[in-house]
Amino acid sequence: MSETIKTVCKTSDRIAEILKREKTFVSGESIAAELGMSRASIWKGIRELEKNGMTIEAVTKKGYMLAGEKYARADYVLKYLKNPLIRIKTLRSVNSTNAFLKSIAENENEGLLVIADSQTGGKGRLGRTFLSPDGTGLYMSLLLKPKLSANDALAITSCAAVAVCDVARKIAPDKSIGIKWVNDIYANGKKICGILTEAAFNMENGGLDYAVLGIGINLFEPEHGFGELSDIAGALFPYSANTADVKCRIAAEITDRFMELYSDISSKSFFKSYKNNLFILGKKIKVLRENKSKIAEAVDIDDNFMLLVRYENGEEELLSSGEISIRI
Ligand code: BTN
Repeated sequence: MSETIKTVCKTSDRIAEILKREKTFVSGESIAAELGMSRASIWKGIRELEKNGMTIEAVTKKGYMLAGEKYARADYVLKYLKNPLIRIKTLRSVNSTNAFLKSIAENENEGLLVIADSQTGGKGRLGRTFLSPDGTGLYMSLLLKPKLSANDALAITSCAAVAVCDVARKIAPDKSIGIKWVNDIYANGKKICGILTEAAFNMENGGLDYAVLGIGINLFEPEHGFGELSDIAGALFPYSANTADVKCRIAAEITDRFMELYSDISSKSFFKSYKNNLFILGKKIKVLRENKSKIAEAVDIDDNFMLLVRYENGEEELLSSGEISIRI
């Protein structure tokens, strides 16, 4: 790193500290005096902070004020995280946090958490894409290396869904939170979160090599809304340019809650909670398979989180999440 860049980085961090401390307008002159630097260096530092996702208001004769910060930072996540085994990597933008983590999974230990502020190719279930706009959502993937059979590995997604519900309910108590089988979290009738677990199996012993648990949450409404998805997609909070702290807190809390439940995953201790969170039981749903849709009633789930449905002709079927989706 060149000397000049080093100085700019350091300056911007120190300016950020002053702006956070003062919480109001601070003149360029007083920042320069406190840091013993020229006004030009302060101006460069401010530009650097803006590039790093800080919104800084600049008003003539008043100076600068920190109005918000939007990008996740590992040190902010660590401030809230309790589990000592988690390591964090933050990325401004990536194709997909799941794809990124899979590409390095072989050489990493369990507990690596990758958080991105936006994804250019966010992946959803059944080959769909997951809209991942810059700054307003939380896109994270956690590397797991449990000793589980392929069947028990299915519980990872349900375990994560319970963790997300617990945290969402705590942080947004005014919202009605629930799970739409199998892995979509809804708030006040709109989808706010999707979960995609991708696993690699060992061909020789049939066991799990690793699993990548991917969670995408719409924390804040995007600045210009969800566009054509606005009928189905929602967010926990209204638009804000100040998303970094909440994002990091939620990432830490979900990870901690998930790790708590996951430490005993084979007992499926969270089964009851998963079932209580499911808001489709007893309701009429549409079962979608290979472009065909059939009306059914969602009756129950079995021990493996499969959904029991009853069609209009009285026939019953146990659905696994692999190739089916449902509509309410
Ligand atoms: C779904 O709704 O079908 C699942 C969406 C899962 C999205 C998350 S965002 C973080 C991780 N990276 C991805 O590419 N997908 C998951």
